[in-house]
Amino acid sequence: MDLHIRRYKPTDLDTIKQLTVEGFDGVSIDRNIEDQFGPINNRDWRWRKMRHIDFDVDRDAEGVFVAELGREVVGYITTYRDHAAGMGLIPNLAVDSRQRGRGIGRKLIEFALNNFREAGLTHAKIETLDQNEVGQGLYPSLGFREVARQIHYCMALDSKPNE
Ligand SMILES: CC(C)(COP(=O)(O)OP(=O)(O)OC[C@H]1O[C@@H](n2cnc3c(N)ncnc32)[C@H](O)[C@@H]1OP(=O)(O)O)[C@@H](O)C(=O)NCCC(=O)NCCS
Repeated sequence: MDLHIRRYKPTDLDTIKQLTVEGFDGVSIDRNIEDQFGPINNRDWRWRKMRHIDFDVDRDAEGVFVAELGREVVGYITTYRDHAAGMGLIPNLAVDSRQRGRGIGRKLIEFALNNFREAGLTHAKIETLDQNEVGQGLYPSLGFREVARQIHYCMALDSKPNE
């Protein structure tokens, strides 16, 4: 497999946003919110989720990496290095559905972990939804240990209790 992982370039933005909306259908908090409340402020979950990628890139473009098969971008990982805390964070990760199960997601995470080590960080954090079976298989197999579970809530501001 002719796989190459390299640093993100601004011309990758549209592709990694497309990988995001394709990949996170069914495994996204924004999608769950839309399932219950419908589109909010005339924006759908895809727009909200793609915005996370803009935030990740704006925060630390040097911490975003893409996986290329040949010359095609087939996956990405976003990271953030919190030097003061000694912690590397992985907010977002996706691989083209046609290329999954070939070890690309694993290689992207290993690449990010090595990047954290080279930056002098000592720990790494990643999160996944209860409904995301792949994450719950992949992350422990890389050495991550479960430390907490969280419940996400949302409400419409014009609703009353018990409505
Ligand atoms: C998560 C994701 C990036 C993994 O990419 P990938 O290239 O398919 O991953 P890999 O091939 O490296 O590893 C797959 C691993 O996932 C796990 N896995 C795959 N399918 C699984 C399933 N149905 N249940 C549990 N674990 C599963 C296994 O541990 C597998 O490793 P193995 O092949 O060594 O057994 C990809 O599935 C994806 O883009 N999903 C949609 C977006 C997403 O969920 N992002 C992460 C949010 S937390």
